[in-house]
Amino acid sequence: MYYSDDVVEEVRMRNPIVDVVGSYVQLKRSGANYFGLCPFHNERSASFSVSPQKQMYYCFGCHAAGNVITFVMQYENFSFQEALQFLAERAGMTLPEATESRESIEARDRRSVLLKMHKDAAVFYHRYLKSPEGKNGYQYLKARALSDETIVSFGLGFAGPRPDLLYRYLKQQGYTDAQMKDGGLVSFSERGAFDRFWNRVIYPIMDANSHVIAFGGRVLGDGQPKYLNSPETMIFDKSRNLYGLNVARRTREKYFIICEGYMDVIALHQAGFTNAVAALGTSFTPQHGAIIRRYVKEAVLCFDSDGAGKNAALRAIPILREAGLNIRVLSMTPYKDPDEFIRGLGADAFRERIRAAANAFLFEIRMLREQYDLEDPQGRSDFFNETARRIAVTFPDPVERTSYAESVAREFRFDPDTLKSKITKNGEERGLSRSDPERYRPASSRKTNNTESSAVRAEKLVLTLLAEHPERFGEVEKQLKEEDFSSELSAGVAKLLYQQLREEGKANPAAIISRYIDDERSGEVSALFSSEFSAQLSEEALDQAIREAVYTIKDARISEAMAKVTDAAELIRLMEEKKKLKKPEGGQ
Ligand code: CTP
Ligand code: MN
Repeated sequence: MYYSDDVVEEVRMRNPIVDVVGSYVQLKRSGANYFGLCPFHNERSASFSVSPQKQMYYCFGCHAAGNVITFVMQYENFSFQEALQFLAERAGMTLPEATESRESIEARDRRSVLLKMHKDAAVFYHRYLKSPEGKNGYQYLKARALSDETIVSFGLGFAGPRPDLLYRYLKQQGYTDAQMKDGGLVSFSERGAFDRFWNRVIYPIMDANSHVIAFGGRVLGDGQPKYLNSPETMIFDKSRNLYGLNVARRTREKYFIICEGYMDVIALHQAGFTNAVAALGTSFTPQHGAIIRRYVKEAVLCFDSDGAGKNAALRAIPILREAGLNIRVLSMTPYKDPDEFIRGLGADAFRERIRAAANAFLFEIRMLREQYDLEDPQGRSDFFNETARRIAVTFPDPVERTSYAESVAREFRFDPDTLKSKITKNGEERGLSRSDPERYRPASSRKTNNTESSAVRAEKLVLTLLAEHPERFGEVEKQLKEEDFSSELSAGVAKLLYQQLREEGKANPAAIISRYIDDERSGEVSALFSSEFSAQLSEEALDQAIREAVYTIKDARISEAMAKVTDAAELIRLMEEKKKLKKPEGGQ
């Protein structure tokens, strides 16, 4: 951490969470808390809560949680440093000199130089496009039916016909050769400086916050390579950036349109589909999936309708599905890509295709079918078996299974009952029983609330209740020590909370969250203070809840120790302790 805990805490306190969150999300007061539509997932009813007392937010829908710093980190996609800077500025504070290592100062400076240089280069290319010398580029874009407004909003530009125009401009702006090389914009040889992009239309690539981080350049005609992109640099990681995301993330559509290229995104945005994004000349990665999932639950794939596009879709589907996205696949026939489709049939027809887009699983089965000769009985039976197997492994839920079995049977003229029984048999052979739906779920969606142990739930309850009812600390402290908590994380958090309650008489969970931000566990820490059972309990219910939770935690701790113990005397001591532990009465 570059700033002291005190500085972080001061920045946090000078930014009341209701004010900050309230500037992004419309909040309404309800009792002690505020509620609004969650900015981290799409929803129609307000399940996002902000607690002025705890200085925390929590979403009952997607379980996003944290303090004001993690909020701007999540919302703006800021690093911890950037979030702190942003909040300090917002509160009119000047941050003291950070105690930062030489390497990290250098890295940060290098990053900001690269960002500034890309911004300057983007302005240069854009101005050039608009100038008389840039008319070839401008005419090319016009011929592709782009409006002036679109050209401006995407910051499109042109790299002129000589290979050192950018070099000379950047030099004049004071950049060094080393910096230009670092950004991948200029290369150097004995023969001198050579711009990476020349005689190409320029598509600035922006991150989620609209910083230019790289460029794509397209030849004007049929030359090769058609597109040339910036290399990966310190500021450009292809596997984490999506073209168009800076705009798409602000739309309130409940899905993203995912297409293949720059022109597709631009054409779709121009036609009003501003929720379109594309990967940058690379395949989809799990990181892409996770980024998309931050904003939406559903994606409509809109890949080229040629063989390459279909294969790209087949590769992307499992990756995006694993990220927890619901996926559909749009058919563009008879056109190749969305750009051509919109020009051919217009936006309304495209909207209709979105509506009609097939579920990705059906798309996968349709593609699978092309590998079999369905006229041949063996081919047909192989296809049948493979289809049954895939339904069994893809859908844990019996209702879903049945419904997929029925639509597949209908489309490929299988007997539905035979297919269903084959699927069931498949599932059993693989040891996937109905009673164990957990096994089917992707790893990322496991570890949800229902698999949480009762001790962990009880710990969350105690920590949340202490944060909201500091007056109960005395009685809790007598029965439950920090060390009784089950994990390193919860015991560490309990220790900090107990310390606050002892020394200050009040809880400050938001400060504890700050302590964990750099360690990437702030989400887990926030969850510890966000038990959903805490809301609006009467005094008696509160007493009862505390008694039960304390009992559960201690009981789990003793049982765990007993399972591990090797010393007989220690075992006897634990058994005594367990006997003394009284199960609370009432409740369940
Ligand atoms: N691409 C690339 N390098 C290439 C070809 C393609 O990086 N040599 C990437 C670009 O991001 C491009 C996307 O793959 O936008 C899709 O390629 P393609 O379908 O060939 O391009 P279009 O976007 O259709 O380009 P255009 O319409 O300009 O011909
Ligand atoms: Mn195209």
